[in-house]
Amino acid sequence: MKNDAIWLDANVTQIDDVAEGVRRIAFAAPQALPAFDPGSHIAIRAALAGGHAIRTYSCLPDAAPGEVAVAVKLHPNSRGGSRYMFSLKPGDTVRITTPENRFDLSWRAADYLLLAGGIGVTPIYGMALALAARGAALRMEYGGQSLGAMPFTAPLQAALGDRLALHPQDQGSMIDLDRAIAALSPQGELYICGPLPMLEAAKAAWARAGRPTSRFRYEVFGDTGRFTEAPFTVRVAGYDQAVTVAPDQSLLDALDDAGIPMIHDCRRGECGLCVVDVLDHDAPIDHRDVFLSDGEKQEGTRLCACVSRFSGGEAVIDTGYRP
Ligand code: FES
Repeated sequence: MKNDAIWLDANVTQIDDVAEGVRRIAFAAPQALPAFDPGSHIAIRAALAGGHAIRTYSCLPDAAPGEVAVAVKLHPNSRGGSRYMFSLKPGDTVRITTPENRFDLSWRAADYLLLAGGIGVTPIYGMALALAARGAALRMEYGGQSLGAMPFTAPLQAALGDRLALHPQDQGSMIDLDRAIAALSPQGELYICGPLPMLEAAKAAWARAGRPTSRFRYEVFGDTGRFTEAPFTVRVAGYDQAVTVAPDQSLLDALDDAGIPMIHDCRRGECGLCVVDVLDHDAPIDHRDVFLSDGEKQEGTRLCACVSRFSGGEAVIDTGYRP
């Protein structure tokens, strides 16, 4: 496993409902947690009925000094992470990591376009406040199902004023990606966090505008797939063992629980370290990563075990390791 973050026990200090179906949860550890930059996240070990799941959550900018706070959306098709998080009460002990950052601001751009979709606002929220506090030129476009389901609109409005545009879908408001990108200077950078279709649309608009990929920074949450989560079973080449993956578990976590070694890092379908070969399968693959190309996804011979899954049935995979 590649992961430099330090695991520790933390206690839940405060829980607040901050929007419909969205809960803010704050944690404190015996020693003060280190300060973190916008875009940082922590991992949390969620206890599930049949094993465990590791989920990552962005650190909110409004935590008390020495604490961390995250916001969690309860998903109807939760893989277990959000249901576990919604079961927490003040005083509960949870295994978390210290904050780490793979979505950091460059601080070098002439201006910034921040795009947030749904609960993807969590890293963008901290970036917006930090950029506004430093007097940086920025614009933020924030889309969600409805105003009531969009957390942190009040502090964002207070910090950004008319540099913030809200796009509640139930009012027919959509982000005009081409227009937002056209308003950015040639030395501008785009930061986006949202569901996979939004990310893909923004990437396409960025490419249409002839902008350099080095100035397009993203983070995605990998729990939006084409299929509802169902159990499936995998056989692993070289191991005389069948592993059943529960609907609320990732393939990576199930392999980990079964003692099958895996390399991984981001757990969000971005780095590609957890990719396994697919040798056989009798149900479609639900690709939920941004690492594999569209062509590779269509080929169906590889899969990111941290977020992607089979839609059911049985499959044979090869992790590249032998016992
Ligand atoms: S751990 Fe990074 S893509 Fe799976």
